[in-house]
Amino acid sequence: MNAKIKYRAALVGCSRMGAFIDNESSNPKLSPYSHAAGYIKCERTDLIACSDIRTDVMKIAGDTYNIQEKNQYTDYKKMILETKPDIVSVATQPEQRAEVVIFAANNGAKAIYAEKAMSASIEDCYEMYDACIKNNVSFNLGTNRRYDSGFNSMTNLIKEESLGKLKTLVAYCTGSLFNMGSHNFDLLLKLNSESKVTSVTANLGEFIWDSELKELKSDPIGQGVIEFENGVKAYAFNISNKTKWDAICENGVVSAIDNGGNFIVHTKNKKYELDVEKKSSTLSLIYDLVRSIDDSRPHLGGIKVAVASTEIIFGFIQSHITHSQVTFPYKPLGINLNRNFAPRMPKYNK
Ligand SMILES: NC(=O)c1ccc[n+]([C@@H]2O[C@H](COP(=O)([O-])OP(=O)(O)OC[C@H]3O[C@@H](n4cnc5c(N)ncnc54)[C@H](O)[C@@H]3O)[C@@H](O)[C@H]2O)c1
Repeated sequence: MNAKIKYRAALVGCSRMGAFIDNESSNPKLSPYSHAAGYIKCERTDLIACSDIRTDVMKIAGDTYNIQEKNQYTDYKKMILETKPDIVSVATQPEQRAEVVIFAANNGAKAIYAEKAMSASIEDCYEMYDACIKNNVSFNLGTNRRYDSGFNSMTNLIKEESLGKLKTLVAYCTGSLFNMGSHNFDLLLKLNSESKVTSVTANLGEFIWDSELKELKSDPIGQGVIEFENGVKAYAFNISNKTKWDAICENGVVSAIDNGGNFIVHTKNKKYELDVEKKSSTLSLIYDLVRSIDDSRPHLGGIKVAVASTEIIFGFIQSHITHSQVTFPYKPLGINLNRNFAPRMPKYNK
C-alpha cells in the first residue's frame, strides 16, 4: 500500500447525507457525518467535483467545500467522464442509486460509496453487484453502524465467545425497511459474523402497493424473523421507539443502547459497560474504502455484504406479499420502490 496516494472523490447528490447533515447533529463525535465532510477530513481523499439536479443545493455545497464552479455538474455522467474521479459517492435516494452506481463502475471509478438503501429493486442490486465485480470496483454501503467503533467492539466480543456462543439477536426498532431496516439488517449480519441467511418470515405495516406495476409507493415498516446458516435467529421487531439491540449468547447478553451510544454486558454475576471511544463512522467508512482500493479487496464492508442486507429487505417484502416464509436464495418477484420522493431542503447552517 502506498499511503501517499490521495484519491479524488466526486459526489452525486449534494443534499443532507451528501453534504449538510452535520448541521442536524448535536453530537460532535459523529462528525464528519456527510460524505463531503468525510472526504474533506480524510487525509487520503480530495473532494474535487459534485453533481446535483438542484442547482441551488449544488452551488451551496460547492461553495461550502471549495469545489471549483467548473467541477459542479447537473449531469453526473458528464462529471464522471470529464473529472475521472477515483471514488464516486452516491447520496441520492435509492430510486436513483442503481443507474449512478452502474455508470460509475463502468466508467473508471475505482471505488463507490453508496448510501443505503442500496437499490429500489433486488434486480437493480444484482446489476450493481455485476458492474462492480466486472470492473473490480471497491464498494461500501452507507450502513454506518458497520464502521462504528462501538459496534466493532460488540462484534468482537461476540466473536471471541467469552460469553459463549451467540444464540439470538434482537433489534427493537427495525423501522421502515429501506430507510432504517437497511441499517438494522446490515448490523444483524455484522453481529452474526456475516453468516448466510437461510430464510425470512415477515409482515409489514401499512403497505401502499400498485400490484399491477409491482411498485411500492411508500417505504413500509416491517418486522420479522431471520434465520441464519449457523443456527442463530434474529428477531427484527418494532416494539420500542428506542433504537436498541441485544445479542443473546449462551452465558450472557451484550446490548447496544441509546442508538449505539452505550454498550452493556450482562452475565450471571456481573454487569459492565464496554469501554468505547466514539469516532465518526463516515470517516471510518471512507478510510475502509481507501484501504480497499489500496489492496484491491474489501475489509469491513464490500459489495457482498451490501447485497446480503438488501436481499433481506426484499425477502421481507416477498414474505409479506406471499404470506409465507421465504427461503434463500429466492426467486425475485420484480418488486420496485417508486415513491415519487421529493428531496428535502438541507439545513445549511447549525
Ligand atoms: N447513513 C446515514 O446515516 C444516512 C442519514 C441520512 C440519509 N441517508 C441516506 O442518504 C440518501 C440521501 O438522503 P438525503 O436525506 O440527503 O436525501 P435528499 O432527498 O434530501 O437528497 C437527495 C439529493 O439527490 C439529488 N439527486 C437526485 N437525482 C439525482 C441525479 N440524477 N443526479 C444528481 N443528483 C440527484 C436530489 O436533487 C437531492 O438533492 C438516502 O438514501 C438516505 O436514506 C443516510
